Amino acid sequence: MIKIAVLGYGTVGSGVVEVLDKNCEIISKRVGEEIKVSHVLDLRDFPGDKVSEILVHDFEDILNDNEVRIVAEAMGGIEPAYTFAKKSIESGKHFCTSNKELVAKHGAELIEMAKAKNVNFMFEASVGGGIPVLRGIISSLRQENIEEITGILNGTTNYMMTRMDNEGIDFDDVLKDAQNKGYAERNPEADVEGYDACRKIAILSSLAFGKQVNYEDIHTEGITKISTLDMAYAKKMNRTVKLLGTSKKVGDKVSAMVAPFLVDAASPLYAVNDVFNAVLVKGNMLGDTMFYGAGAGKLPTASAVVADVIDIACNLDRNIPIIWDKDKLGLTEYENIVNDYFVRVSDEDGKAADKVYGAFDEVEVVDEPLDKEYAFIVRQMSEGDFNKLLAKIDNVLNVIRIK
Ligand code: NDP
Ligand code: HSE
Repeated sequence: MIKIAVLGYGTVGSGVVEVLDKNCEIISKRVGEEIKVSHVLDLRDFPGDKVSEILVHDFEDILNDNEVRIVAEAMGGIEPAYTFAKKSIESGKHFCTSNKELVAKHGAELIEMAKAKNVNFMFEASVGGGIPVLRGIISSLRQENIEEITGILNGTTNYMMTRMDNEGIDFDDVLKDAQNKGYAERNPEADVEGYDACRKIAILSSLAFGKQVNYEDIHTEGITKISTLDMAYAKKMNRTVKLLGTSKKVGDKVSAMVAPFLVDAASPLYAVNDVFNAVLVKGNMLGDTMFYGAGAGKLPTASAVVADVIDIACNLDRNIPIIWDKDKLGLTEYENIVNDYFVRVSDEDGKAADKVYGAFDEVEVVDEPLDKEYAFIVRQMSEGDFNKLLAKIDNVLNVIRIK
């Protein structure tokens, strides 16, 4: 029997206990041994829940129990998760986590520590919820030179935008709904401002390109400026609006960004709706491949954590190599990132076209604009140049990049 401890008995942690319980038979068969949750750590008590028998409030109870081989963390936040991860690994316990904040900030260090201690640090659930995308990159795409990763990486915002688009539901109401469903972060600003997607594209890029990508260095915009009118324009152009995390090799650097993009109906990302996430990976030999599935939620995320637990249980005496060096990857400076842009300007006075042509040499005009507006597209311009020219127009309503 292999004993594991679960840290945090919230949405994901309680899901981990449930998955291990409900699929106990099949998991034991596949591992060759039973996996038993011997401790659950949380701040609260859970009277009446069968977990109360194994509930602890002091992490030292877990650390000092030599029979606990695997620690699965689902508390969230940097501290005390970081300290618990280090202490677990130092004491020879394997550690897995769904906590992207922890992984994005300390992943390289914890991977190195785990290697030195011949244990494993795994984090499948930290990107794409239940989608086995990290395992795909780490093991199935080892032969590839990865050129680009673009994904819908946040379930909450994709769920929100799908419902806002299909049902015209108000931003705040649909956010509350996502929170009730257990999709959102404790502070949902992380979802709607794009910070969560930013951590995930930083993790994906670090794994794909093998070096540290600091999420603080990635230009990030959320969905708070996206209106139903933007979505109506998108429909007119046979597109939809998606919050994308994208990271692409350009020369000897990587160009990375998180922002809402207009996605064409021909793209496989177009039909990714609700809480689903998808990650498109382009390999130099394979071409495009897409990982798709539930990007958040109790059981899908817990399933990914348990996938790590099983992988670890099958490799208790060896470290499975993960290449993610501490050296920083060179990122393209924000000003030099090249994009296409869709721009809406107010045209109450009928003079918008003059102003636009006074600023930009060449634009594609969008026919039949909505609501007394003027709308146009600018192709292949760096963010720096585009912003300089856009600043010459005083009545800009919104800008959305085009994928
Ligand atoms: P929850 O807030 O639902 O659960 C966290 C649990 O951990 C709570 O019960 C909390 O207790 C407990 N906890 C917090 N701090 C401590 C501590 N110091 N000691 C012991 N227990 C503690 O969060 P989620 O389950 O939603 O998320 C957990 C992690 O998984 C986060 O990093 C999140 O980003 C990540 N994640 C979440 C997904 C989702 O769909 N929800 C999907 C993928 C990843 P209390 O409530 O009393 O503070
Ligand atoms: N809040 C996150 C999301 C959870 O909505 O995608 C999954 O990482």
